[in-house]
Amino acid sequence: MCGIIGINATEPYTSQELLSRLKKLEYRGYDSWGYWNGTQLVKKVGKIEVSDDQQAVNVAISHTRWATHGGVNEKNAHPHRAGKVTIVHNGIIDNWKELRTGLEAKGRGFRSETDSEAIAHYIDTALNEGKDILAIIKLLIEEIHGTFASLIMIDGDDTLYAMKRDSPLALGVCKDRMILGSDIYAFSDTTNEAIFFENDEYATIRPTGYTFYKNGEELVKEAKAFKWTTMEEDKQEYAHFMLKEIHEEPSVNQRLIDSLQTEQDVHFKELVDLIKNAKKTVFTAAGTAYHASLLGASFLHKCGVNAQAIIASEFENFITIDDETLVIAVSQSGETMDVIEALKYSKDKGATIASIVNVPYSTIERMSSLSLQILAGQEVAVASTKAFANQATVMLALAQEFGYANGLAGMPKKLAGVLAFEPELQKLAQELHEHRDLYVLGRGLGYPVAREIALKIKEISYVHAEGMMGGELKHGTIALIENGTPVISLVYNDDPKMRSSTQEVKARGARTIVIGTTPQAELNVPAESEAEFAILASTLGQLLAYYIALARNLPIDKPRNLAKSVTVL
Ligand code: F6R
Repeated sequence: MCGIIGINATEPYTSQELLSRLKKLEYRGYDSWGYWNGTQLVKKVGKIEVSDDQQAVNVAISHTRWATHGGVNEKNAHPHRAGKVTIVHNGIIDNWKELRTGLEAKGRGFRSETDSEAIAHYIDTALNEGKDILAIIKLLIEEIHGTFASLIMIDGDDTLYAMKRDSPLALGVCKDRMILGSDIYAFSDTTNEAIFFENDEYATIRPTGYTFYKNGEELVKEAKAFKWTTMEEDKQEYAHFMLKEIHEEPSVNQRLIDSLQTEQDVHFKELVDLIKNAKKTVFTAAGTAYHASLLGASFLHKCGVNAQAIIASEFENFITIDDETLVIAVSQSGETMDVIEALKYSKDKGATIASIVNVPYSTIERMSSLSLQILAGQEVAVASTKAFANQATVMLALAQEFGYANGLAGMPKKLAGVLAFEPELQKLAQELHEHRDLYVLGRGLGYPVAREIALKIKEISYVHAEGMMGGELKHGTIALIENGTPVISLVYNDDPKMRSSTQEVKARGARTIVIGTTPQAELNVPAESEAEFAILASTLGQLLAYYIALARNLPIDKPRNLAKSVTVL
């Protein structure tokens, strides 16, 4: 949620460079944006516009917002300025009201409804009292409750200041400039050297140098070389990133399978050993990654492994963790705050932490003693697609080590085969796109898939879709079925229980659509195992969701109210 960029350079640069970097982080939030370059404060609602403003500066900060405190308007957009201090902030300050009241009592007038503005006033007030900036930041970090990745500029000072707790912040080290950003996408086109801020660290950033501190002590931090697949930010011939990313599934799936046998082979085997040695394995994740986790838990469960998947935001309420538990976080971004919190809790209980992530060097990867990368490449579309296919494939690979052999090697080819359903799905979407409600039913491995398909439909087409267990339908939800209500059933191998759930809704007038593996199915997926069916049907569902949203003429890659990386609780 929210992306921030700050650049301190030896040679002057224009807002074009700043904003084209900010644009790379737009997926983190896109309701408003702004920048400060020492003289100009620009704040706008909507998507980032990279202007051709030629004013060149050496230091500037910028922000793209996903609103938490205060509505979406120019006033609440960042940067926030107070006196000679300008800040951008990603995170949530829990005690902002107390801070604000204290500052108002000192005569400070606030302009916005945000929690963030308090940071600017706090620093400016303390500077006016004659305090030293580093002492102020140290004290501020002690006094703030909550999360922050914040960049600070002070009029007349060409140093850039940065501080972080829980929200991500990285420093890209280039020959002639330092680039601060919420993640490595901010600078991975220009440098592969980065330093990652850890909690409660702060730093002074100059064009060719930096100094890190924690609790008033100077730290020795070296830049690390990172490896990242080439930026995949070009839509190519596709109308949307989402469609392009679904089409990339066969190739990124092959890349993943190859790497699990080569460069990730050692880590992969270590993870298998961790699962073997643990009393229980608990996957934790949110949204789409949770659905992949459910598949993983079920694959392992089929081989007698004690495995569960728990939604990260409810983790503490539904699972007992101890030092014999292995917790595996699954996350595309590696920055989801609910997952980070579940990991902190698990660490406190003595559990071993592992992860399966897409973005390398992310917070979740750094919190884990062992991490596998799914190598899906950058997902620009907010809806997760190729990451899901690869997360599910890692699960399949893990389960295969426990005796669950289910066509792993053939997966890339099978995924390519699913793309041939596009014309049929387009036609189906034309029929479905005007419905307000839609249901997706599944059993066993089909259940997470039903939820995943429904989630995709909801988030990009704004159609209310409910993904549920076929067996649960008759316990209440069937009351909602009316003449013509679309119900998608996921039926592997003509499963009689799924057939009867389908019949039950059909008898009440539903328009049933069977995605199955027999010729009777409306969409007959060429899957040879239940696991294969689960993964392939998910891709089919991604395409269906895409074409429904297209028929509704919606902003598919950046749906309303969402952000790709959810870094607040
Ligand atoms: C849905 C979607 C979200 C994410 C969820 C977790 O298409 O993208 O549900 O799956 O926010 O995000 P990560 O995987 O980054 O932890």
